[in-house]
Amino acid sequence: MRIKFRKLFFNSIILLAVLITLSAEVFSQVRTTDVFTKEWHFKFGDVKDGQNPTLDDSNWRLLDLPHDWSIEGLTQSESLQKDVPEFHIVKGEWKFSEGDNMLWKNPELNDSAWQTVELPSTWEKHSNYTTDNVYGWYRRELIVPANLKGKDIFINAGKIDDADETYFNGIKVGSMGSYPPQYTTAWDNLRYYKVPHEIINYGGKNSIAVRVFDGIQGGGIYDEGEKVIEGPFESTSPGGSGTGYLNGGIGWYRKVFKLSEDIKDKRVFIEFDGVYMNSDVWINGYHLGNRPYGYSSFQYELTQHLKFGNEKNVIAVKVNVQQPCSRWYSGAGIYRNVRLTVTDPIHIAHWGTYVTTPEVSEDEATVRVKTKIRNQSLSEKQVTLETVVVDESGHEIASDNSVQKVQRDSTNIFEQFIKIPKPKLWSVENPTIYYVQSKVLVNGNIVDSYDTPFGIRTFEFTVDKGFFLNGKHVDIKGVCLHHDLGSLGAAVNKRAIERQLEIMKNMGCNAIRTSHNPPAPELLDLCDLMGFLVMDEAFDEWKRNKTKYGYGQFFDEWGEKDLVDMIRRDKNHPSIIMWSIGNEIPEQDNDNAYEMSKRLVDICYREDPTRPVTSACNTPEAAVKSGFSKPLDVMGINYSMPFYQTLKGQAKLIASETASAVSTRGEYNLVKNDDTLKIEKELNNQCTSYDITSPGWGNTAESTLKTVKSAPWIAGEFVWTGFDYIGEPTPFSWPSVSSYFGIVDLCGFPKDRYYLYQSQWTEKPMVHILPHWNWKGFEGKEIPVWCYSNCESVELFFQPEADQTSAENWKSLGEKNFSDIDDLHLVWNVPYSPGTLKAVAKKNGKIVSTDEVHTAGDPAKIILTPDRTEINADGNDLSYIKVEIVDEEGRVCPDADNRVKFDINGEGTIAGVGNGNPISHEYFKANERKAFNGLALIIIQSTEENGEINITAASDGLQESSIIIKTKN
Ligand code: GAL
Repeated sequence: MRIKFRKLFFNSIILLAVLITLSAEVFSQVRTTDVFTKEWHFKFGDVKDGQNPTLDDSNWRLLDLPHDWSIEGLTQSESLQKDVPEFHIVKGEWKFSEGDNMLWKNPELNDSAWQTVELPSTWEKHSNYTTDNVYGWYRRELIVPANLKGKDIFINAGKIDDADETYFNGIKVGSMGSYPPQYTTAWDNLRYYKVPHEIINYGGKNSIAVRVFDGIQGGGIYDEGEKVIEGPFESTSPGGSGTGYLNGGIGWYRKVFKLSEDIKDKRVFIEFDGVYMNSDVWINGYHLGNRPYGYSSFQYELTQHLKFGNEKNVIAVKVNVQQPCSRWYSGAGIYRNVRLTVTDPIHIAHWGTYVTTPEVSEDEATVRVKTKIRNQSLSEKQVTLETVVVDESGHEIASDNSVQKVQRDSTNIFEQFIKIPKPKLWSVENPTIYYVQSKVLVNGNIVDSYDTPFGIRTFEFTVDKGFFLNGKHVDIKGVCLHHDLGSLGAAVNKRAIERQLEIMKNMGCNAIRTSHNPPAPELLDLCDLMGFLVMDEAFDEWKRNKTKYGYGQFFDEWGEKDLVDMIRRDKNHPSIIMWSIGNEIPEQDNDNAYEMSKRLVDICYREDPTRPVTSACNTPEAAVKSGFSKPLDVMGINYSMPFYQTLKGQAKLIASETASAVSTRGEYNLVKNDDTLKIEKELNNQCTSYDITSPGWGNTAESTLKTVKSAPWIAGEFVWTGFDYIGEPTPFSWPSVSSYFGIVDLCGFPKDRYYLYQSQWTEKPMVHILPHWNWKGFEGKEIPVWCYSNCESVELFFQPEADQTSAENWKSLGEKNFSDIDDLHLVWNVPYSPGTLKAVAKKNGKIVSTDEVHTAGDPAKIILTPDRTEINADGNDLSYIKVEIVDEEGRVCPDADNRVKFDINGEGTIAGVGNGNPISHEYFKANERKAFNGLALIIIQSTEENGEINITAASDGLQESSIIIKTKN
């Protein structure tokens, strides 16, 4: 990690320019670790001999990493399907039989005795076949015209509940979901299968047979399904709703670089923070390795395959995203950072420092530093390790020196204990960071230097009182986050993560669960610095996979390594307070559940005995019964709130996943119901923002907050989720493409629920009114007005639009006290007429906070509000600019959907646009966006030049708006 005082610390060391790449990246010092992300060539699709150094890749796309091709909506289908005819086979007459027999796939089968059915329909309807967990078969004929001879075709076999295998002339051409015993449903995916020309009978009959397994509820070919490609989204994407209808596929990356002769004697490593997924890496044609799990960080040594001086080196990476492989949007590509590290043959090994604080008191802390030193030179070396602990401003606090002989080709562990007087403890409020500076010397010369940030703190989970940090009780007020960054997709950007954390912090959140995989290292660095507690999670599945090509297929071979690597990489982060070995692991009820979880827990202890291990259990009863939860230090309970009581006193508990409340920002779904109004939970693929709805397994945000509060033995909760994410658009599917679970939307704009959490998780007085106050056509109807506040009482006032000239015309609609109710929100039913509602919140009888909503007029102007007006000219930094559609008075128009066009020039580019609408199919990489409920977002990224970025937003009929963002080195 780079730290502020690094220059100071190293200025005595002669800086050697030892390595020059074609893109002029310059490496220096004894150890150089630098970004290796510039100027890669990328090609979508498989490439024969893509690893071959002599391959001509000059017509491949040139780009900088991190990169996620999935968000861009490369027209994968187009490239695959050009001129490929499609046959929609669902509609029409089929033959159907209950039961299962593999001979039924044969084209010659005589199925005349089978029932004739009309599809699409469920088999409950067309055949009264109502049993659960059963098979059934469908068969039909297809004539493929003779003039298509030699061409592949696509068949659209519609949506099938739940899992299918589809045969064409007796040969399997596709399948989705999985049959028991590894049952997974794919009820919501369109079956869009390619049929190779070799098996097609042109100009004659072809046989299609579909073997279907149904779990519960409707079974069969129930929906015709339609192939739609809009923006980057594709309704037939094999990832389906889970991955937000964005495609995977195969992609290749290549980078050419040169190395200076000066580093011939050094060791060179390439380090990937994560490649999604199943990457293969070659250097100069030599295969370095394969890494299936897309969330693991890994390193390869390049040294013996490198060329120096004027000769070129080629690194090639193949990425293979076979969908469906994830329950949420994963992204695709080298979506995290890449570094090239050059060291002396004698150096600190990869992830080779381990800093713990075995004793901590107010007077003194003992810091134990274990350092792995590797000798890759040709002879034994006497190695000195100088370890210095410094504070945040670079002041030396304490140090230790050790000497050992390290044999050639071996690694020694140096263990040192360093006392820190009067340590400043790391906490959520004061996240104090110290640094271990390690210097490795041979013959008095520094051969390596390495900095490790760490924190000094103690913590404890208890059975009866929850969680304690440095002896002080702390309620874990956490959120689960997936790794995508909204409009940026999965491509990592540190500022984007920092902004997410700022938004969460402002809500009172103090903890993050990295659901359900090892995060980008940037997230952990930021959590250390910003004071978030972290539950670092390894897996969403072990052997029993949740999607067809999910991690389960790799678990036996890779499970241990992936877990170990997560811990080795992350173990020095003070923010991490537990390791999670998995989320909702299907093996919770296995006969060998105890052995399986014990094995992984033991691996965690072996790697890091200082932290508790947890797992997020969605079937706590089964997990206890099977022994799955026995080895866990802290039992994670997902949903299942009655178990807070059932398990009270029996285990240390954390509500590892809660709520799953759903809502769309700015949507209320109020509809007329005779003389009154009613709130539809779901309407037109949008969920109401009144906190009244969640899927069957979830709960409203409010009921969860109340239940967690009433169970103080629980350490706290992780809400599902802090941010909306791409994919998993429960309770809908296409055309919905992103989630409704977020407390804030995909752009980071708060939904009303944000203020509920703020009212429960923060002290600074606040009050928030919902809904908006533009209800034309609803005049006189009573609108439920809700207020969230952390104050004692709220008085609601109304001022009619006609009377807004006088400050006197506020009519009180009554004052309400939280102490009089059990709810966490106050309600007034207010007959609608245009005007302004004002909430006045009081504490001890004093007004401490107010909020207003106004009836807005027609859209008239655009207002641009950047989160930062000056950003770093480093090619990575971002300014997030909120785009508001307002009326003449500057009031946000709550249902405006004007299309806004952006014109940008100067030292910046558009990194993404968005509007938070889960059913928008617009491109995220574009220079225009429709507003959604009055708002849109544009994200500007700096170049590496100092200067200005001018942004103008314009929309037909609206007054345009311009702003300037400065960029500085
Ligand atoms: C949970 C699961 C999450 C997400 C959530 C949606 O059961 O752990 O990954 O799918 O449901 O409600």
